[in-house]
Amino acid sequence: MQSAAGWIELGNHVFFPVYSRFPIVVDRAKGCMLYDVEGKSYLDFLSGIGVNALGYGHPRLMEALKEQIDRFLHLSNFFYQPPQILLAQKLLQRIGMQKVFFTNSGSEAIEAALKLARRWGAQNGKGEILGFIGGFHGRTYGPLSIMHQARFREQMGPFLPDTFVAPFNDPDTLPQFITEQTAAVVLEIIQGAGGIIEATSDFLQALADLHQDLGFLLIVDEIQTGFGRTGSWFAVDHTPLQPDMLTIGKAIGGGLPLGALLGGSRVADLWQLEHHGSTYGGNALACAAGLVVLEELENGLLEHVQQMATILEEHLQQLHQQFPHLIRELRGRGLMRGIVLNQPAAPLAQAAVYEGLIINATARIVLRLLPPLIISEEELITGIRILTRLFERI
Ligand SMILES: Cc1ncc(COP(=O)(O)O)c(C=O)c1O
Repeated sequence: MQSAAGWIELGNHVFFPVYSRFPIVVDRAKGCMLYDVEGKSYLDFLSGIGVNALGYGHPRLMEALKEQIDRFLHLSNFFYQPPQILLAQKLLQRIGMQKVFFTNSGSEAIEAALKLARRWGAQNGKGEILGFIGGFHGRTYGPLSIMHQARFREQMGPFLPDTFVAPFNDPDTLPQFITEQTAAVVLEIIQGAGGIIEATSDFLQALADLHQDLGFLLIVDEIQTGFGRTGSWFAVDHTPLQPDMLTIGKAIGGGLPLGALLGGSRVADLWQLEHHGSTYGGNALACAAGLVVLEELENGLLEHVQQMATILEEHLQQLHQQFPHLIRELRGRGLMRGIVLNQPAAPLAQAAVYEGLIINATARIVLRLLPPLIISEEELITGIRILTRLFERI
């Protein structure tokens, strides 16, 4: 077998260098732990960027997957597949929408939402689509068209026409961007990659009022925030917004590639035969996983997240008090937390890895914590201890 250094060298040779990878060659994972090829263990506070809600090797998930593997892996959407139908039905009941389109990723869910919004706009004389500064919706052309970050877009235009990006959390500027021409507005209630920035209540109220007055389609991106991550089923749950579409991804697949667009009554009848499609979207194995994720949340996992969130909050507050010169601010909710530093976050995230803790740096100065939703109190405290040691050393 290759040594860790050998794998890293080979990896760096074969891939387009678009990712900054941890210098870890993972051999296996269990619960909230990763184990590298040299036998070192790491506590995972990133969960595959908010994907592995049930951690690794969750017994019920594994059982459901094995059962599905024995039946079939992939059929295509030319067939009716029970796991897909059951998952769609459960999602619609849970979210209160009318139709589902399954995808393989979050970006594709956003693409689907934008296409549907364009079609609605074509029928209603509205052509513009709006995103917000700091928003992150994926890397394909649709999402990139409603994002502003230069480093994601440089020399890769042109992007979709009639797309705009407005300041986030600035209710006063909203009327300049949202008009009678607006077909759709896309937002995250808590911007994830943007640095765990929560929409303020006055901003959300202003948006809800404009939605009511002007009648554009409101698309809420719950790809990172959905399925208990913030301590509620969805981040939009406790806001005044009434979304027309919801995009989901990440956690719903429990580690398999799965996303979806959910549409409410205003868009439910807009797509007919051939208007959209995907070879893999709603793959049976991924949907079987999705059903387990939903069942776990329904059977106590959501309450567990709320308990763990309270504990994490207390410990983060203590950390803040202990290191006020290093920590500028704490952000986020539930098990989606950001520690805003007074310095670049990447070196600290790297140092954490050497101490056996996986965390991620985002928005330059923010340490992002997205532990698996199944994390225990003991594991949370272990992670905080490692962070404390690192802060002490700075
Ligand atoms: C809020 C949000 N939307 C969309 C995406 C894109 O999802 P994917 O990477 O699965 O295409 C992400 C991914 O990080 C995300 O956090």
